[in-house]
Amino acid sequence: MNSYSASARDIRQPATQDELLSILRCPETREPLHRASERELETLSGRRWAFRDGIASFVGANSDSHAAASDVQHLYEANRSPDAKGFMDGRSVSLDHERKCIAQLSRHFRRGGRYLLDAGSGPIAHRELLQYSTAYERRVCVDLSLPALRGAQAKLGERGIYVQGDLTNLPIATGSMDAVTCNHVLYQIPAEQQAAAFLELWRVLKPGGVAVAVYWWPGAPLAARFEELTECLGMHGAPDATEDEAYKPFEYCHSLQWFTEQNWPFRYRIESYCIVDSWFMRRRISADWRGEFLRNILCAMQRLAPEFSGRNGAVPAIIIYKD
Ligand SMILES: C[S@@+](CC[C@H](N)C(=O)[O-])C[C@H]1O[C@@H](n2cnc3c(N)ncnc32)[C@H](O)[C@@H]1O
Repeated sequence: MNSYSASARDIRQPATQDELLSILRCPETREPLHRASERELETLSGRRWAFRDGIASFVGANSDSHAAASDVQHLYEANRSPDAKGFMDGRSVSLDHERKCIAQLSRHFRRGGRYLLDAGSGPIAHRELLQYSTAYERRVCVDLSLPALRGAQAKLGERGIYVQGDLTNLPIATGSMDAVTCNHVLYQIPAEQQAAAFLELWRVLKPGGVAVAVYWWPGAPLAARFEELTECLGMHGAPDATEDEAYKPFEYCHSLQWFTEQNWPFRYRIESYCIVDSWFMRRRISADWRGEFLRNILCAMQRLAPEFSGRNGAVPAIIIYKD
């Protein structure tokens, strides 16, 4: 057992076959699955899916989203390192801030239960993300990328359930998850498929469950005010970050207006994850007293005015309730 596992709810056995099958469903036919062989799952109608090295694999479904999904899959599999350029600002000033923002959301996962779904888990890059599943028996990691799932597997071991699948059509049974975390994933999904992904997060929740989705509003007005403040203070971020450097791996962010105009079947609340985005941190936050000062203002504002900061800042946490 590794150091991460030690803090989590005391589950040391791998998921049994029955447990695994009870939370999965075929993304094509919506049927439940049974074990066809050592390395395959199957529906009653005969659709088979691979199950290898502890990972149930549901990619290659004949869905409209498949082509887009495989683009994201390849992007991530090509940029496996968490330090890959454009993905992360490795300076401690930015990492500390990111960790604080992640930890701030852990209050939504205190109630605990049997299953926490980590939708688009990646390799679970931060220890603070792992803390979300402390009060749950198992963390169900779903991602398109196999290397990402293997990374998650290395950290969670037998407490995890690992599923290669697409968020726009989750291979997870309706009403089977106590809570969902979906951190920095939905805006990477093609714009026209994002509503389906939001609905999927809600579908898989048990009644009374909560899903927390970290999203990204383009052109956030509050983030623009902070941009001006850094200019006044003469701040510059990481030396290798240039203003005109293209940082657009994901171009599908919808606006707050788009989100609020959807006819969602669920109740939701918008809070703040971070008023500014990671690209702002990299370009603008200096690793000196001014950076510290600005970070403190950001954190205080996010804490004191979470809803205002969530609606007007760049990176909201959208809390979805299943009543
Ligand atoms: C920016 S990473 C975030 C990883 C993790 N949630 C975190 O916050 O560190 C996005 C992850 O979402 C996955 N992803 C993107 N689109 C997806 C989709 N349609 N279905 C499942 N996973 C997806 C990618 O493979 C990648 O691992």
